[in-house]
Amino acid sequence: MKHERIQSLNNRILEEYTNEKIVLGDGNLDCSIMLIGEAPGAKEVELKKPFVGQAGKYLDEFIEVLDIGREQLYITNVVKYRPTKKSTKTDGVVNRPPTNVEIEKFKKYLIEEIDIIEPKIIVPLGNTPIKGIFEDNFKIGEVHGKALEINIKGKEYKVFPLYHPAAVIYRRELKAVYLDDLQELKKLMRKKC
Ligand code: URA
Repeated sequence: MKHERIQSLNNRILEEYTNEKIVLGDGNLDCSIMLIGEAPGAKEVELKKPFVGQAGKYLDEFIEVLDIGREQLYITNVVKYRPTKKSTKTDGVVNRPPTNVEIEKFKKYLIEEIDIIEPKIIVPLGNTPIKGIFEDNFKIGEVHGKALEINIKGKEYKVFPLYHPAAVIYRRELKAVYLDDLQELKKLMRKKC
């Protein structure tokens, strides 16, 4: 049943964005943890899977600290294509953060994805997925490492926001905070699962 519903959702996304290289959600549909990133990068587009580039290394650490298997995860992004802009330094393009318009356009799909998967814990990585699920104007700096709740289509979910991997890579001072947050998430998982 979940499989058919995800298939139908994915088909609708692919039909709406025929001109884009779409990277769909991936993982166990009966998972306990749903990780939500911002948007795919070049490597993710190439391999058609979320979190396989630089961010994939971060995912390995995430799995190791939480002492879980990858099969316990479902991983997706709010925006399902790679947002790019022209680079001034090279002839090519570089990543850019998704705009609020892009986030809004994909919101309905993300909400449906959560409703199908019904994860025990939703882990948004950074501000973009927070905007993608909450109506409130939360900022990652205020809500990271906190257990929040959200009602989606009549069902209650635990939400545990973490900093985005890119932020942890570029702002080294966040690394210790991020590792502390992961320990809190581990405790929450023991309670929930
Ligand atoms: N960063 C994200 O937010 N998502 C990916 O899939 C890869 C990097």
